[in-house]
Amino acid sequence: MVNHDRVTKAVIPAAGLGTRFLPATKAMPKEMLPVVDKPAIQYVVEEAVDAGLHDVLMVTGRNKNALENHFDRNAELEDALTKKGDTARLQKVNYSSVLADMHYVRQGDPMGLGHAVLRAQMHVGREPFAVLLGDDIIDARDDLLKRMLTVQAQRHTSVVALLEVPPESIHLYGAAAVEPTDEDDVVRITGLVEKPDAEHAPSNYAVIGRYILRPEVFDVLERTKPGRGGEIQLTDALQSMAEAPDWTGGVYGVVFRGRRYDTGDRLDYIKAIVQLAVDREDLGPELRPWLREFAAELDDKPGEIVEEMPADPTGPISTIRVEDH
Ligand code: UTP
Repeated sequence: MVNHDRVTKAVIPAAGLGTRFLPATKAMPKEMLPVVDKPAIQYVVEEAVDAGLHDVLMVTGRNKNALENHFDRNAELEDALTKKGDTARLQKVNYSSVLADMHYVRQGDPMGLGHAVLRAQMHVGREPFAVLLGDDIIDARDDLLKRMLTVQAQRHTSVVALLEVPPESIHLYGAAAVEPTDEDDVVRITGLVEKPDAEHAPSNYAVIGRYILRPEVFDVLERTKPGRGGEIQLTDALQSMAEAPDWTGGVYGVVFRGRRYDTGDRLDYIKAIVQLAVDREDLGPELRPWLREFAAELDDKPGEIVEEMPADPTGPISTIRVEDH
């Protein structure tokens, strides 16, 4: 029996290999990379809690210890800060351990996002639930998840977040074929394609890392064969759900026009840190004038040569040109 009631659980897949960030992610999940002074994953858990989802299931893989430890008490650190009387830092350390009701499940082999979501089946049961990708940050000033929960409550369908991207970037995402609805920011999804090239993309609407899924997704995922890259793709399961609205409820999209940072991508990660730090009361006032000066100097300087580690450590050091932007 499907429970159409309020969504209470958030699932955060954080078991990917994070190969784009090697060697930083050799012994640490990419979701633990700091964005200013918090790991990316903490922004994501805070977003879930802020939307009323206190029950958080994290899907972890190898190197899971750092993730679990971050959301647990650290008695040694607490003692040291208490002795020093550093209450401000003590609060910061304690905050992540009381933030949410955290649960963990292992994925084993990282066989794709669809496979990671399927690992949540036991914990979630037959309820609609939210999925928040652990390396995707939505700015806390933009209420995307709350809006998606409202749409889910009204329509009782699965809901995904969509972002309009330039055609040359659509090959990095799942792309949605859509039909308008009576609401400006809501569309009905008629089809989905994982990472299409620009000329085969059904639209410029890219699926980003927020989903509210009906439990039928588990039934579909169990039958979903490995797709692109030999992985079980969530996009393929959503495509099947969009095609069979009679028993899955179909899939709708909420068009997001706010700020989103993909911290799994090196360039976006750097941009995220700068953008979030500029807006911070404690860092912004000093960072802004420094950034202006730095950018002005860039305008005058030609690209510089920097040294990069060779692929073969015994080989010659290669050089790359840092282009002027
Ligand atoms: P990505 O495709 O961005 O993660 O998955 P990745 O495979 O770790 O990245 P690269 O390309 O190798 O750098 C998006 C989210 O889904 C999780 C990731 O941890 C990330 O939060 N994921 C992905 C899993 O939990 N399991 C998987 O098998 C794949």
